[in-house]
Amino acid sequence: MLTLGIETSCDETSVSVTRGKRVFSNVVTSSVHLHKRYGGIVPEIASRYHVEYIIEVLSKALEHSGKGLKDIKLVAVTNRPGLVGALLIGVSLAKSISYSLKLPLVGVNHILAHLYSAFLNEEGNRPSFPFIGLVVSGGHTALFYCEDVDRYKLLGQTQDDAVGEAYDKAAKILGLGYPGGPVIEKRASLSKNRNASLFPKSYMGKDSLDFSFSGIKTAVLYYARKMRVLGGDDINDVCYAFQEACLDTLVEKAFLAGRLKGLKRIVVGGGVAANSCLRGKFHEAAGFSGGVKVYFPEMKYSTDNAAMVGAIGEELYRRGHKSDLYLTAEPNFGIII
Ligand code: KG4
Ligand code: ZN
Repeated sequence: MLTLGIETSCDETSVSVTRGKRVFSNVVTSSVHLHKRYGGIVPEIASRYHVEYIIEVLSKALEHSGKGLKDIKLVAVTNRPGLVGALLIGVSLAKSISYSLKLPLVGVNHILAHLYSAFLNEEGNRPSFPFIGLVVSGGHTALFYCEDVDRYKLLGQTQDDAVGEAYDKAAKILGLGYPGGPVIEKRASLSKNRNASLFPKSYMGKDSLDFSFSGIKTAVLYYARKMRVLGGDDINDVCYAFQEACLDTLVEKAFLAGRLKGLKRIVVGGGVAANSCLRGKFHEAAGFSGGVKVYFPEMKYSTDNAAMVGAIGEELYRRGHKSDLYLTAEPNFGIII
């Protein structure tokens, strides 16, 4: 069923054409460069950018796919959670297309779409249900027991900052700009004096599957202040230590969830899943785990994109989720599904 996917929940404007797990096109443009000077996303700027570019992105997605609107059989749009103004642009476009062309419309949960993105992998490298799902993005950090595409149970989540948010805030403190993820990863790789225990790891108690990343952000803040007074330390070394503390807890808790639930498959999704060091740590841990298999989406489907939205939207529709022409943007939709 040829599906038009639309994603505008944050700073990426994206439209895709997919059928099943096959991606015909996935066009993404981002307002990230406009937010840099503010050190974080400015919702109004993100919304205006979506308004300005969404039609062009739609046209490109259709053109790259070699399909026309007349070929589309279903519209899937991210309608929760996200920035309200940003979500509304995608939802409005989806509703107009759906209404005018009499096409069914399904609303997609952005967090679940991230968990589904590894299903766009080549055949042979796709996960199957059930699995432990770890979402690591700018807005969320959570572990799920994923029974099926529409049956998820929340196992644990961050009690304060999301891990991507911690990267962004640490980068701001260190004067590295926005977004923090890619630049901290780069600077960490250049570290010459590697001290992985510079910052404490937060475990939230024995066998807890919850996370906390606000403490490490504050630790980086105090450390940066001290560095400015005393000098000496290299920012690359601070990035290395920060990254080690954040990523190790993600890996350890995902494997703990697998052990507690008796599952040998782990799927990771969300912007931080683009981090090569995180991928390396997961694959290394899998090597020592006695048979756990870890799945990551391709890099281009780790950060926000419409293809994951179209793909899960189609699957949900096939399983009987009703078309809803009256769906609304639900910015505050909680992580519990
Ligand atoms: O999933 P995403 O594109 O948007 C949200 O749904 O939030 O994730 C964006 C987050 C940002 O916090 C960004 O700093 C982080 O993903 N990120 C990374 C990397 N690339 C993006 N974090 C660590 N390493 C990266 N390579
Ligand atoms: Zn996202």
